[in-house]
Amino acid sequence: MAKYLKNDTLDQTHIYHPAPLATLHAGKGAHFDLYLGVPTRSGQRFVLYKSADLDLTEEKRRELVERGVKFLYVTDDEAGNYFTFVDRTVGEALNAEGASPEQKTSVLYSTTTALVQATFARPESPVLMKTNRTMVEHTVEALSADPVLLRTMASAFSMDYSLYSHAVHVSTLGTGLLLEILGTEARVKEAAMGYLLHDIGKCRVPTDILRKTGVLTLSEMREVEKHPDHGVALMRPHLEVGDLALDIIQSHHEKLSGRGYPRRLPPERISMETRICSLVDIYDALTSHRVYKPAMRGVDALTLMRDKMYEDLDVGLLKQLIRILGPRHKS
Ligand SMILES: [Fe+2]
Ligand SMILES: [Fe+2]
Repeated sequence: MAKYLKNDTLDQTHIYHPAPLATLHAGKGAHFDLYLGVPTRSGQRFVLYKSADLDLTEEKRRELVERGVKFLYVTDDEAGNYFTFVDRTVGEALNAEGASPEQKTSVLYSTTTALVQATFARPESPVLMKTNRTMVEHTVEALSADPVLLRTMASAFSMDYSLYSHAVHVSTLGTGLLLEILGTEARVKEAAMGYLLHDIGKCRVPTDILRKTGVLTLSEMREVEKHPDHGVALMRPHLEVGDLALDIIQSHHEKLSGRGYPRRLPPERISMETRICSLVDIYDALTSHRVYKPAMRGVDALTLMRDKMYEDLDVGLLKQLIRILGPRHKS
C-alpha cells in the first residue's frame, strides 16, 4: 500500500544508509523506500516515511526542509536504486539544455556538501562512497566541459568555514588546477576523490579539539596530526578510493621543506597531485572566515603564499593557481 508514514516501526535489523535531502530531488522518480531517523535513548530507530511506489513530491520535500530534516535513509536492499537515482538526476541537471554555470554550481555545491557531511558521519558506508565517486566524476566532467564554471563555483564558495564545505572547495579548486595541467579526465577523477576526502580522518579526531579556537596544546596537536593516517585507514577498504587518492589523503600536510606531517617526507616523495592539495587546502583556509580570524581576500592569500610560504609550497603550481583564479576571486 502506498504511503507517507511517520509512525511505522520496522524490523530494525536492516542497515540504513543516509540519503542527504540535498540529493533527493522532488518529482524525479525517487522510487525507493525512504525512512526517517528518529532519535531514541540508545541511538536511532528508523520509520518508513515514503514507500517505493510513491515519488517524493515538492510539497513533502518542503515539509522536511521546514522541519530541519537533513537526511532520510535507505536500506541496503534499496541502496542501488538510490545511487542510480542520484547519478541520473545530477547528470540531468548538469546536462540540461541551457543550464547556466550558476545552476550547475548550485547542484554540485549543495549535493556534494551534504554528501560529505553524511560521509563524515558514516565513512564506512559503501553506498555513500559510490555516490561520492559519481559526484566527483560529474564535477570533473562539468569543469572540463565548461571553462567558466571554475570561476563561478569559486565565487560562490561560502566564506564560513565548515569541514564539509572546505572539502568541496578543495575538491573543486584541486580538480580545476589539475585539469588545467593534465588536460585529460581519467587521472583527475582518481585524484579528485583524494581532494574531496583529504580530511575525512578528522571524523576520528575528538570534536572538542577540532572546535577549539585557542592555541592547541602539544598533545592536542598530535591528535590533529593523526588525521591523515586515520583517513587512509578509513578509506583503504573502498574500491572507489584508489592509490593516488590515498596518497593525497596521507600526505596533504607534507611540505617541500621536509617540515610537514605526519612523515616529514622529502620533496621527491610528494606527488604533484598531492602538492596541489596542499596548495588549495592552505588557500581555502586563508580565504575562509574562522571564529579566530577574518577571511582574507583571494588576491591577498595568493600573495602571502607566494611571499611567505615559498619554501613549503610548489611555486610553479602556485603560479598556475594564481593564473586560473586571478585577482577577481573572493576579492
Ligand atoms: Fe588536513
Ligand atoms: Fe583541509
